[in-house]
Amino acid sequence: MGYSEAVSQLSSLTVNQTGSRALLFYVVCVCVCVCVCVFSSSGCKVLLHFVNQSGMKTSVSAMEGESLLEVVINKNLQIDGFGACEGTLACSTCHLIFEDGVYEKMEPMADEEMDMLDLAYGLTKLSRLGCQVTVERWMDGMTVRVPQEVKDRREKPEAEI
Ligand code: FES
Repeated sequence: MGYSEAVSQLSSLTVNQTGSRALLFYVVCVCVCVCVCVFSSSGCKVLLHFVNQSGMKTSVSAMEGESLLEVVINKNLQIDGFGACEGTLACSTCHLIFEDGVYEKMEPMADEEMDMLDLAYGLTKLSRLGCQVTVERWMDGMTVRVPQEVKDRREKPEAEI
């Protein structure tokens, strides 16, 4: 039986049989539930561990697709000055250090991120800007470390003030 035949039969049921409206309602509900399940599967939960400047480790459940900046904000993590420019690539306060195996698997960084990252304190070969990194399912269980020092490029040195 094809889709159009099924729809046609359902339509005739609603016209010809008692209680068929309830059946049609049931079918529509099932279809809606299936669609919700399929589309919501892209928003998988991912377990992340953040180690802040003080060495305190916090574990959070993040949504796939969020940036690490959004995770820090949404989970209200205690990281001093994190994300000062709100992800506009005008600071480097979202500087994070990743684990070796994780860093290698991440999407390559754009030139703009690389330029801003060059200005970050405590730069390592495993550094990225958290506002530019999107949570992916394979990151489940990863640990990111906040460097001891961060720099907000928008702050002028005292000599310039
Ligand atoms: S929040 Fe400023 S560069 Fe990421």
